[in-house]
Amino acid sequence: YGTAQVNAKGNLEIGGVDTMDLAAEHGTPLYVYDVALIRERARGFKETFERLGVAAQVAYASKAFSSIAMVQLAEEEGLSLDVVSAGELYTALAAEFPVERIHFHGNNKSEEELIMALDHNIGCIVVDNFSELALLEEICEIRRQKVNILLRVTPGIEAHTHDYILTGQEDSKFGFDLQNGQAEEALESSLRSEWLQVLGLHCHIGSQIFETTGFLLAAKKIIDKLAEFHDKFGYVSKVLNLGGGFGIRYTEEDQPLPAASYVDAIVTEVKDQLGQTDLPMPEIWIEPGRSLVGDAGLTLYKVGSEKVVPNLRKYLAIDGGMSDNIRPALYDAKYEAVLANRPLDQAEETVAIAGKCCESGDMLIWDLPLPKAERGDVLAVFCTGAYGYSMSNNYNRIPRPAVVFVENGISHLVVKRESIEDLLRLDLQLQ
Ligand code: LLP
Repeated sequence: YGTAQVNAKGNLEIGGVDTMDLAAEHGTPLYVYDVALIRERARGFKETFERLGVAAQVAYASKAFSSIAMVQLAEEEGLSLDVVSAGELYTALAAEFPVERIHFHGNNKSEEELIMALDHNIGCIVVDNFSELALLEEICEIRRQKVNILLRVTPGIEAHTHDYILTGQEDSKFGFDLQNGQAEEALESSLRSEWLQVLGLHCHIGSQIFETTGFLLAAKKIIDKLAEFHDKFGYVSKVLNLGGGFGIRYTEEDQPLPAASYVDAIVTEVKDQLGQTDLPMPEIWIEPGRSLVGDAGLTLYKVGSEKVVPNLRKYLAIDGGMSDNIRPALYDAKYEAVLANRPLDQAEETVAIAGKCCESGDMLIWDLPLPKAERGDVLAVFCTGAYGYSMSNNYNRIPRPAVVFVENGISHLVVKRESIEDLLRLDLQLQ
């Protein structure tokens, strides 16, 4: 998983750095990112578009993992950036990310968030619904400021992990429905506006998707509509944003396609569909999160207590859990792991990896074959780079772990570990 290897000492190594040294230096739990792999993934997407000769933007969906260093890495790799809140936008600004490549998403951006985006002249706002459209128009009118927007549409496709379901009546909190006239009405009203400049349409059909079919169906439906919009309003879309959602391999059961295959298939379909219309090729934008950072990250934990339920199960507890990785509890997500201090040792038993939170559902892995492990051993859980740190929390007043970047044998602390004093930073005394 990812690029972790076993070094001469027999320890797990990532980015040329011994994970046992990382655990000793920074403590556990610890998120570790292989920077070279993130670069490789970013370049993979960009080079595929270049090879296909298509103008594109690859926007990193920073909800997967947002920090100043991560945003700076996205900038170094020439990515654009998708933000969904004042917090993610503030992080991008603190990292001095080029504002023209920032896209602002979300189904309930506040007035303050919209104003913040306008103050900083960001690249575009992805408008999600009619009330936001009206609010943005009103704010822009007062400020006499033009803004680029995309209209987020719901194409009536729900992509599930392995398959997709065509839903006649789309039931989603996001976007303007493409089928029932909402998207058309939104476009018509935006085109009337002096302030809103509609660059194009956006859709995002789901996450951790293993097939291209859902993307192709979405592209087809949107292009059909764009042909209609062209006939009706003379509208020509400059941008077609097909969102993120490309799957990664968490366990052996996951069989994602190489990232380039999604892009290849999408571009081919868009070209085919456009060939049947008079429309020019728009820029294709995508916004991967998980597939850029997911398998580049792993989490190191220290093994602590154990409990054996005779004839049933051995629980091995680690020093983190749902506070740093809520995905197993929330989505029944599956992970692979090894002992970082002897990854190649033969498995002797199957154990259940329990978190330390006061909640029975705080289980990271139910059945993990491992050599006999004991207090002090270090467990490395793979593919925690996306939606791990970004969904971490202080349940049970557990401080958030630190984050380290490794590259070419060098490690670099990019997010400090929260201290227990930090946890009281916002607390006030009883009056
Ligand atoms: N664009 C939009 C509009 C999105 O809503 C998302 C993810 C992305 C891009 C990036 O999707 P990705 O490439 O990462 O699949 N917390 C969940 C995932 C939620 C994804 C939400 N939207 C998890 O841990 O699996």
